[in-house]
Amino acid sequence: MLSHEDNELLCRVGPGTTMGEMMRRFWMPAVVIHELEPDGKPVRIRLLGEDLVCFMDTEGKVGLLDEHCPHRGSSLALGANEECGLRCLFHGWKFDVNGQCLDTPAEPENSNLAKHMKVKSYPTRVAGGMVWTYMGPAEEEPEFPHFPWFDMPEGSCEAFRVIYECNYSQALEGAVDSSHAGILHRSVPWTSEARWPHEKDLRPKLEVEFTKYGMRYCAVRTADDGSKHARMTQVPMPFYTLIPPDGPKAPEFRRNRRLINAFVPRDDYSTWHIQFFYDPGQTIDRQHRIEESGVVWDDNFFKINGADVWYNQDREKMKSADGIFSGITGVALEDHAVSETMGKIADRTKEHLGRSDMAVVAFRRMMLKAAKRFAENGEIPEADQAQFDWNEITAETFFFEPEKKWQDLQPLPEHLEPSDKAA
Ligand code: FES
Ligand SMILES: [Fe+2]
Repeated sequence: MLSHEDNELLCRVGPGTTMGEMMRRFWMPAVVIHELEPDGKPVRIRLLGEDLVCFMDTEGKVGLLDEHCPHRGSSLALGANEECGLRCLFHGWKFDVNGQCLDTPAEPENSNLAKHMKVKSYPTRVAGGMVWTYMGPAEEEPEFPHFPWFDMPEGSCEAFRVIYECNYSQALEGAVDSSHAGILHRSVPWTSEARWPHEKDLRPKLEVEFTKYGMRYCAVRTADDGSKHARMTQVPMPFYTLIPPDGPKAPEFRRNRRLINAFVPRDDYSTWHIQFFYDPGQTIDRQHRIEESGVVWDDNFFKINGADVWYNQDREKMKSADGIFSGITGVALEDHAVSETMGKIADRTKEHLGRSDMAVVAFRRMMLKAAKRFAENGEIPEADQAQFDWNEITAETFFFEPEKKWQDLQPLPEHLEPSDKAA
């Protein structure tokens, strides 16, 4: 449970809000690179409550500009993209990827207006199949981080984005909640015999550790042979979850597949659910991943099988022996359904939390603490993600003997311990 004030602090992300300004200090993924081509169609994107337009110019440079033309406000997403700039449809003002105005064709020939005119623009980088941006103050721009999925061979990392129609924190909390895995994602109806270890042991032991980059948590279950089965998830600030691969006992093609979630706030009420799937040992089949997720989206990245059609929940399937508990097809769609139906911003003053919610509680504590510290002294040490070697911050699935602790196998390196252990 949270107080109304803390819930507001956690959830509000528009310009000028504490959490929104804190998030603006991190580089964040925005547009999938396949969506752009030189002189191609501009892409509209809302980020942290701001409407922006992304385009690739003739030379392949990527710009991210305020969507509204500084002349009289028409959408630059309607504009013509040619000869290294985006030209507004209304009176032809043209802007380059840095937002500099290059031409105002309806003004007198000797006009200086273009030279002095800029549209707001944000810096961009391309990595891991996405365009990334930094929306904070220019003088605070951190070095661009280097994540392991940036180094995959061609085809071994694929990025996706779709809209979650609820606040980012709610979407993220679903990913730090291992206890729902054997229930919501149960592969058989409730009354049929469970198949997988996580469906058999519904009471994983959860443990959280705060770290320098955010937190990590481990769900430990007892396997059939009495050994312990651990899934350790990393939760870097401010909106990532690094999900462990299926691990040593899974079929070979699933053993090392990794998933990174970024829950990037679109505005207070919706979130970009960005996923990077990667595996250095194999090609990621884009179509297969989309089918597996169960989420189907339109050209604007809104789900067409969302709440409007009640997630196409099939009640027959919930009862028939070859069905599934949720009646909803696809793991990601199941996750979207339970988080979105809490409301766009869940009223956390009304919850009743249990032991199984401890990682959710820890996540909120981490975010609120960071936001309060930021509001007090403007400091966010985690925002400098380039300081970390992300190859040592990985999510893992592993087995261990019952007399050991999971930390014996995955000790937190000393230099990644939080500077303020009182977290
Ligand atoms: S509104 Fe864009 S040029 Fe006039
Ligand atoms: Fe889930």
